[in-house]
Amino acid sequence: MVSRVIPVDPFDLVIFGGTGDLAQRKILPALFRRHCAGQLTGAERIIGAARTELSSTEYRTIVAEALRKHAGSKACGGGALEAFLEQVSYVALDAKGEVGWTALSDQLRPVEQAPVRVFYFSVAPGLFGPLAERVQRYGLANADTRIVVEKPFGRDLASARDLNRTLAGHFDEGQIYRIDHYLGKETVQNLMAVRFGNMLFEPLWNSQYVDHIQITVAETVGVEGREEYYERAGAMRDMMQNHLMQLLCLIAMEPPAKFDPDAVRDEKLKVIRALDPVEPHHIVRGQYQARLDPEAPHPSYRGLVNNPRSTTESYVALKAHISNWRWAGTPFYLRTGKRLVNRSSVINVMFKDAPHSIFGAEAGRHANHLKIRLQPNEGITLSVTIKEPGQGGMRLVDVPLDMSFAEALGPEGGDPPDAYERLIMDVVRGNQTLFMRGDEVEAAWAWTDPLIAGWKSRGDVPKPYESGSTGPGDADLLMRRDGREWRGINP
Ligand code: BG6
Repeated sequence: MVSRVIPVDPFDLVIFGGTGDLAQRKILPALFRRHCAGQLTGAERIIGAARTELSSTEYRTIVAEALRKHAGSKACGGGALEAFLEQVSYVALDAKGEVGWTALSDQLRPVEQAPVRVFYFSVAPGLFGPLAERVQRYGLANADTRIVVEKPFGRDLASARDLNRTLAGHFDEGQIYRIDHYLGKETVQNLMAVRFGNMLFEPLWNSQYVDHIQITVAETVGVEGREEYYERAGAMRDMMQNHLMQLLCLIAMEPPAKFDPDAVRDEKLKVIRALDPVEPHHIVRGQYQARLDPEAPHPSYRGLVNNPRSTTESYVALKAHISNWRWAGTPFYLRTGKRLVNRSSVINVMFKDAPHSIFGAEAGRHANHLKIRLQPNEGITLSVTIKEPGQGGMRLVDVPLDMSFAEALGPEGGDPPDAYERLIMDVVRGNQTLFMRGDEVEAAWAWTDPLIAGWKSRGDVPKPYESGSTGPGDADLLMRRDGREWRGINP
């Protein structure tokens, strides 16, 4: 199956923070891959802007190197790199001063010639205000201009509100694209397709039939290279408040009337607002220890951040409840952590046992289970109970009905654009469905803040866990107390 590429209108895109890590690892490679896929017209202007004094030629050398490193196997040859680089230029600019702004204005085409202008704020949130103000004051924006902002969008409700207020002083909500890159992942969007494109699942998708839901985002990486940021954030702010919250919303929300930005985001917001506060004994925080294995040693979290008393969590698991008609009584167990045994993002929907077993107690207990693998090895497995072959009575066994998206869709369908490719093209097309609205972000912080305040006031210290394990033992207890257990963390 070949994925269709629909070219977008020509656009000008300015990357504030154009020499930064995100620009080099994600934004520029994503643009280049879309260029290779034939989605860009060749008339785009991509302008890197940052403090460092560089000529456009020097910047192109940096971009070329970044693309060689990060554009991956989907990059193309045949002069494509040279053609792409011709569209790239650079402006040295002071976000908080006046240097460079006139030069930037000169590099942009008059808006009538390239109506779509995107300003990508790949900078610290403290610069959002000064940048937004200058974009307007220098007359660089019109009603069709869009700005893109990255997470972290604030570190609590108060700071998120401040950021929202600051941006709202210069741009309409319809022009602000808050990125959560999980929403750009093909399989995350597939959650909506699976739920709302099939008749099969939705009638069972409620507390009457679902015993509980597990959402796991496990990583094998640690926090190398991001120590300063992570020490202030921790897993709760870095992953739970945004990526896992978004997954929870997509799994739990009511069907929107249509696949349209506000219809989808209204439903997600209702889920977040219906979340109960989490009880202190329903949260487990962990912190990874050193790995002494001489083959692959690595330092403990505390060693890495050089703070022997750090209480920042590199792992968090919690039990959440959604107080609405659909989900009352069905717990959602969420966990995420660094330096775990495998990289695996999975949602497990655990159905209830059949109400009565006609086969008697010796047939054992069996329940259906839908496993949605988000990454890697994207796909769906439905466990179904069948008769164990052979004579001698009715013994039951659970077998997987397994589908790998890559196999089902063929090589092209199974090699979808990465999250940033999809999201940047959506910005250019003006489609906000996969971006977080201001009220959604605030609601997520309103739920998160008391949890963080709670463990701070209790002086809780994260439980140590072994690197390469499934996390702290207390997370297993969280489940066992409810007579349940986590599914394995498998690739
Ligand atoms: C980022 C977090 O938002 O997501 C990182 O800041 C994390 O800590 C990353 O590693 C995970 O993204 P992915 O796409 O690799 O699952």
